[in-house]
Order: sequence, then structure tokens, then C-alpha cells
Amino acid sequence: MMKKTLSSECFQSIIQRTLASPSRRNVLRGGVGLSLLGLMPGALQSALATPQAKPSGSPLSFDAVGKSLLDGVQLPDGYRYTILHATGDPLQAGLSEYSNAGTETDDWSGRIGDHHDGMALFYIDAEGRYSEQATDRAVLCVNHESSADAHFLHPRGQTSAGVNGKKFNQFGQWDLGKRPQLEVLKEMNLHGVSVVELSRKGDQWVYRMDSPLNRRLTPESPMLFGAPAAHLNDMNAFMKTVFDPSGRSGRGTLNNCGHGITPWGTYLTCEENWARYFQISANSATIGPKQVAAFKRYGVASQPLKGDLKKGFSQGWHTVSDQDHRFSRWNLAVLKSAPEADFRQEANTFGFNVEMDPVEPTSVSVKRTAMGRFAHEAAVCSKPVAGEPLAFYMGCDSRNEYIYKFVTDAVWNPSDIGGGIRAGDKYLNEGRLYAARFNPDGSGDWLELNIQDPKIRGFDAYRFANQADVLVHARFAADALGATPMDRPEWAAVNPRNGEVYFTLTNNNAVNRTPARINAANPRAYVDPDGKKRSGNPHGHIIRFREQDGLAHSHDFKWDIFLFGAEEDDPRSNLSGLTAKNSFSSPDGLWFSQATGICWIQTDDGAMTDESNCMMLAAIPGELGDGGPLTVKNAMQVGGEIAEGSQDTFIGATLGEARLKRFLVAPRGAEVTGLAESADGKILFVNIQHPGEKTPPLGSAPQYSLESAWPGNQGYGQPGRPRSATIMIQREDGGVVGL
Ligand code: FEO
Ligand code: CA
Ligand code: CA
Repeated sequence: MMKKTLSSECFQSIIQRTLASPSRRNVLRGGVGLSLLGLMPGALQSALATPQAKPSGSPLSFDAVGKSLLDGVQLPDGYRYTILHATGDPLQAGLSEYSNAGTETDDWSGRIGDHHDGMALFYIDAEGRYSEQATDRAVLCVNHESSADAHFLHPRGQTSAGVNGKKFNQFGQWDLGKRPQLEVLKEMNLHGVSVVELSRKGDQWVYRMDSPLNRRLTPESPMLFGAPAAHLNDMNAFMKTVFDPSGRSGRGTLNNCGHGITPWGTYLTCEENWARYFQISANSATIGPKQVAAFKRYGVASQPLKGDLKKGFSQGWHTVSDQDHRFSRWNLAVLKSAPEADFRQEANTFGFNVEMDPVEPTSVSVKRTAMGRFAHEAAVCSKPVAGEPLAFYMGCDSRNEYIYKFVTDAVWNPSDIGGGIRAGDKYLNEGRLYAARFNPDGSGDWLELNIQDPKIRGFDAYRFANQADVLVHARFAADALGATPMDRPEWAAVNPRNGEVYFTLTNNNAVNRTPARINAANPRAYVDPDGKKRSGNPHGHIIRFREQDGLAHSHDFKWDIFLFGAEEDDPRSNLSGLTAKNSFSSPDGLWFSQATGICWIQTDDGAMTDESNCMMLAAIPGELGDGGPLTVKNAMQVGGEIAEGSQDTFIGATLGEARLKRFLVAPRGAEVTGLAESADGKILFVNIQHPGEKTPPLGSAPQYSLESAWPGNQGYGQPGRPRSATIMIQREDGGVVGL
């Protein structure tokens, strides 16, 4: 991770303040102390590690927050939050305040997008350049993921064939019919990334409306494709459309989920569920079997009607008439004689990590094709070591998909810090892409996605043309190699203390995870016995691994399961000793604080939501292997019968209430996602995404029946419809968050 966040002086001042404060002394004797130990000078480390200084109290000194179904943000006593920005707020002077009634025009490229997700804070110096040191100026990049709640952006929901709201066609599928242009422009441009400049005012940060650094990436922003030099021509061939027949450039970014930060100071925005925005019109010529296989494997225009791929789910953006291809680009139909004459290949231009320079508003962002094309959740960098390659760990978030890593050919040189996109060209175009296989004995292998591998070259389900094809269709290549299908890989995080890599596996369903379809790394198949009664692995887990010899470019690793999500009152699924103070389900966001070493866990849950809204927890992990072997007993109904089974796996040490505490519960219907912090650890930025997501579209109803009215119900902006937002959490006594 980028080491802009906290200098060694800052660590020292936290430690000294903490030692000077009797009320804080317990904190350092506990797990946070342990997490800081790896970062302390030797003498202090050994003093704190003596038997007299062993933990005696809670390492996280706040009182755990109880489960909540309230429509607000719940925090521990002694904490408060303020809202930095919310969906629709202007980021350019001259734009009106957000109406929260859907009355905006086509001005969303000047407003904060919707569905706040991954984010990162970058300090800047007095000239507005990237700064490794903390200053009173910064830019905050926030991903805007989804248009799933787009009905809130229009006066009376989405218009569909004269009927308001979502509509299902005669085949029982969502079909919005022909869409009005303004609705589609709003829905397109709510996606992407927002960049706003922040100024420090006392102990607060505010965003500046007049900053030249403020900008948006949207689905209309210009993009370049970066690729390995040896495969650039082949890669360009996959990207050719009528927009750029050379295949060197494209337009826009979509469904921006998690993120990454590069050690040289750029931002990666990761394209996750991009496949669902496309459609294939009925006037398409026949699509070849190889392309049909690729569409199916990636879920593009999926849900075929009676085997006909030409109809299916989409936003209907392609139905708007245009002269400039802003809308027809979403139609993958074969309409002309060559790929560069229509948009049949437009879906090839999405599904990447997109690198942007947060402090260069005129720079063109680059899609890093060498890191593979799939449903990118997030991308986290290994601890940079000068002279060693870097690794980026990446999850593909769909059921039974894989964990990947990209290893740079270039070795890390700290003189590249601040090098922007040009440094990205050096590190992110040339390298090797791997998928993970988790073995039953607790070992793991990184399998290289290389066209030279006979398993890939001879793969029957998809005949790869070349290495560019392997990168564009990485899921097939990982299939060919026998990578381990996981319970929906979400975020990764690297423990700054020891370099161990953690991955959230949010959940899986009864179709894909039964007692007969488990593996050691995804060992559970059970029924949530109350509440939502979901089957499969409804509560998810967090896996972790350590690279062989601690080397990011190693081909081997060791793994165990850090935590299993569960409701505390179900002994079958509660394998990590969770209690009412730290039970959780469906982990998604995952992030280590550089200031405190705390591992923050965020949930996007639909299984435990009868008991609590989504939440955020603070954990003080130990290390790989601190637990031991475990045999998981499984049972669930499959096809009218109770299927049973067991699976041997490895589990980490039970953390207990002292080292795993619920810190935040979100408003109704929201997931908690995205984390960033000020360098001193005193402000934690957190995203609240899609409050009120279960609110039915208006249809013919006179007014909304809102699941949530947050943040308007807290006095922020116009009251009424719920909005996603970035909040800033602080301790009322000005201390470091989480200690
Ligand atoms: Fe965008 Fe998988 O969460
Ligand atoms: Ca329960
Ligand atoms: Ca997520």
C-alpha cells in the first residue's frame, strides 16, 4: 500500500500519546499494540512484548454496537459522524442543489454519482501535486457502482412503455421497453468515479466546490487500453468498434465497485457487474458459437429467452435513437460486415481495472488489460519492497468464481512515486496473471494464465486465439487450469504488519454450494435456521493466505479461514465463536488501517437482515496458522432430501469479543462499503451505499413508501428519498478511531 498515510513520526506520536494517557494504556497492552508492534522501534517493541505488558483488557476500547434495524448510522458511545457528500451533490460551482425529486437535467457529470463504493484519499501539496506526506489538502476518489435504484433519479421512476417503474415482459423478464433519452443519460452518468478536493478545517474536512481538481469519470469519459507490448495488436483487435476502428481507445467506465491504490500514487477503479448493461437487438446477424460461449461465461445478455441470446436483461440504454453512438454502443448486435463497423465488441472494452491519476484532471485513464477481464471487485497491492516485483490481488465477484493476482515484471522503485499514468504503464502493462488453487492440505498454488500452457491451449470449452484472448477471457483460462471456485470473492486486504492477504467471500447459494459441492477453502453448506432461511453458505467467510517466503511473486502459499460469518445462536454455522456483539453476515468491504492496524470488515448482507441492518466491525487479527484444523459438519435440503456431509479445513484462532467488535450499523437497506482515513487515523471515511434499496418504485402510487429516508432524516439536504453518501467518523475526544 502507498505509504503516504502515516510517517514513523506519526506512529511515534500516537504511541507516546497513548502511553501518556492512563485510559489508553490498556489499548497498547492489547491487540492493537500487537498490531503496532511490527511497526515500532525495537526497544519499545520489546518493552511492550514483555510478560508484564500482556493484554489485560479490550484491545478495542469502544463498547460494541448492538444489532440495529433503525434508519440511521449507529456508532459506539463517544463517536459521531458528519456527511461529506451524497448522491447528486454538485461538484462544480453553478449547479443547483440536488432536488432529491428527480428534476435534474443531463448534468450528472457535474454531480456526485450514486451508489458510493470503494474510495481512497490522496494528499496533495500546495501546488496540487501528489504528496507522500500528510497536508491540509487532499483529493478523495469515490467509486459510483450501480444504477439499481435509478428510479429515485427520475420524477416518477423509470418510464417503461408508458408505465412507470420496472416492468416485466411476457416472458417474465425485466424489460423497460424504449427508454427516454434524459432518463438514460442520468442513469449512465451516475456511474464512474467522483474526485473532489478536500480542505482541512480544524478537525474537519470539507470539499471545495471551486477546485480545478474536481471531476468525474463516467461511461462517456475517454479511455485508453494498456496491454503487454507483445500482445498489443491482438488486444487492439478485441477492442475495435466503430468508435475507434484501431481498437486503441474506448469510452467510459461502468459499475465501479472496489478500488485499488498503487504505490506510485494512482487510483484503480474496478469494473464489476458491467455485463448487465448490454443487449443484443433482434435484427442481429447470427453470432458465432465462440462469441455466444463467451457471452454466456461472462453473463453478457444472459437469461436467454428459450435459448435465444438476442433477448434478455438490460437497462435498455441501447433503445435511445442517436447519431453519435452514445446509446447504440450498448447493443452488441452484429449489424455490419466487420467488427470495426458496429459495436459487437463493445462488451470487450469493459471488465477491467481502470487506472486514473487523481491529481491530473486532464490525464486520460487507462484500462489495464494485462490484469485480466472479469467481474473485478477490487485490487490490492502487496507491501511494496524496493527491488522486488509488486503483486495485485483481485477477486472476481460471482458465485464459484476465482481469486487472481497480477505480478509486475518491473521491480518496485520508490523513485516512481508521483509518476502518475506513466509509472502505471511501467508496472501494469507487463506482468503475469495467475488464478488461485486452494489445496485441501492448507497449501495453495498460483496458476499462470498463459497461452503456452497445454491445458489452456487445448481447452475445449473455449478455443483461445492468443494470449490477448486469454486475458480478455480470463475466466475460461482459470477454468482450464482448475482454479478453486470460491464463495463470491469480494475485497482483498493486505495486513501491513506481516503482508498476509485477506479476502472476503461474501456468500454462496444453494445451487452452487451443497454438501456435495464444497471444498476445503469453501467448506460450508447449511441452512440459516431462522430469519431468512437461506441455504448454501449464506453468511460467508474471510480467507487469508501467506505467500511462500513472504514473496509477492511466489507461486505457492499457505491459507486458513480467518473468520466464518454466522448468527451467534446457530451452533452449526457459528464456527468462529461469534456473540451478539460481533455476529455478522456476508462480509464484503475489507481494509487494514495504516494508522492502527485494525482490520475493518464491512457487510452487504441479505441473510441476517431480519436481525440487523448491514454493519462494520473492527478486528485485531493474529496470523496465519494461529488456529488449527477443523471438520465442518454440513446439512441442507437438496431436491427434497436432507443431504449431509463434512469437510476438513483450517480455521484461525477465535478472536472473542475483545478482538472483534461491531463498530457501526447502517441505515435500513444500505450496505457499508469503502474506507479511507486521514493520516493521523482520527477521521475514518466510510461509504453508505443504497439506503432504502427495497423501496418499491412509485408505479401508479401517489407517493413513495420509503424503506429509508437517510440522510435527509438527519437534516442533510432535501428530505425524502434516500441517498448514498460518504460519512466521516470521528471520536468526540479527538482520538484515533477504533483504539
Ligand atoms: Fe460490488 Fe461485489 O460488490
Ligand atoms: Ca438468529
Ligand atoms: Ca462489494
